[in-house]
Amino acid sequence: MKNDRSRISVEFLGKRAATPLVLPAGIMGMTWSGMKYTWENGCGIITSKSLTMEPRKGHAGPVIAEFEGGMLNCMGLCNPGIEEGLAEVNEFRKFYEVPVIVSIFATTIDDFLTLTQKVNESRGDFVELNLSCPNVSDEYGLPLAASKIKVAEIVSAVKMVSKIPVIAKLSPNVSGLTEICTAAEAAGADALCLINTLGPGMLIDIDLQRSVLSNRTGGMSGPCVKPVALRAVFEAYSRVKIPIIGTGGVSNGRDAVEMLMAGASLVGVGSALYEGGIGIFEQINQDILTYMDQYGYGTITDIPRLEKM
Ligand SMILES: Cc1cc2nc3c(=O)[nH]c(=O)nc-3n(C[C@H](O)[C@H](O)[C@H](O)COP(=O)(O)O)c2cc1C
Repeated sequence: MKNDRSRISVEFLGKRAATPLVLPAGIMGMTWSGMKYTWENGCGIITSKSLTMEPRKGHAGPVIAEFEGGMLNCMGLCNPGIEEGLAEVNEFRKFYEVPVIVSIFATTIDDFLTLTQKVNESRGDFVELNLSCPNVSDEYGLPLAASKIKVAEIVSAVKMVSKIPVIAKLSPNVSGLTEICTAAEAAGADALCLINTLGPGMLIDIDLQRSVLSNRTGGMSGPCVKPVALRAVFEAYSRVKIPIIGTGGVSNGRDAVEMLMAGASLVGVGSALYEGGIGIFEQINQDILTYMDQYGYGTITDIPRLEKM
């Protein structure tokens, strides 16, 4: 019973994930070999890097800076573009029966639709809309991520053309995140992914007397964002019926159980890979099983969730 891995397998939007752990967008999901390596080491669902219409070089280095409690990144959405990105997904999915989420990013609805049509023709299992960009504003200067109207518009347009389930990935850097979650659900989103990076934040090198990141500021992730991610997931879970991928600051089994208790169906593990290495997935899986044994839970869905607000 103790090590029976089927106990932590999760059904998600009609697909079976061998474990509850998800590789979030932007972390090792750029190539088929990275996807394979992640899956072989205990990850249940893999998300590609956010793919755009054209390849993007991203910002010049340094693009990652660590600090006590987490890290900042200003990658600038570097990616090989939708064609090459999907070729990697297809290569992986040709050989492995492991669900893949294709993350896409655009600044217009038309481009989101074109990207979705391309994903339709791929072997990707889900499409995730990266709706977390702080740099795209509407006529009032409101970032896309903060506008429930814009988020709903994009989700419902994509739902009209997508042949696979649609996941809305949302930003924590807004007021009224729960309203944006309910707007995404009402627009037809099949699931939510919460949260993208927090901030942006900044670090200064006092010896070089300059900002550590080339771009000065970057999105914050890792252990320091966990309380914000848990709050976002719990509040959304209290209001929506669709499943949630809880992502943000999970680096051990107890963190993962917290995320499940907050209401997540699956748990993203991103920045923890930088600190803990690829073995972190298996470690977290084992820790979840140990927790389940300690409290007598047969399967992962027996782990209780907090009472809704
Ligand atoms: C280096 C790096 C690159 C990222 N790239 C993306 C991306 O391309 N698209 C996206 O939606 N999120 C991206 N993220 C955000 C993560 O997917 C995740 O939501 C966030 O880091 C919080 O989870 P964590 O604390 O487990 O890392 C990136 C994060 C990091 C650290």
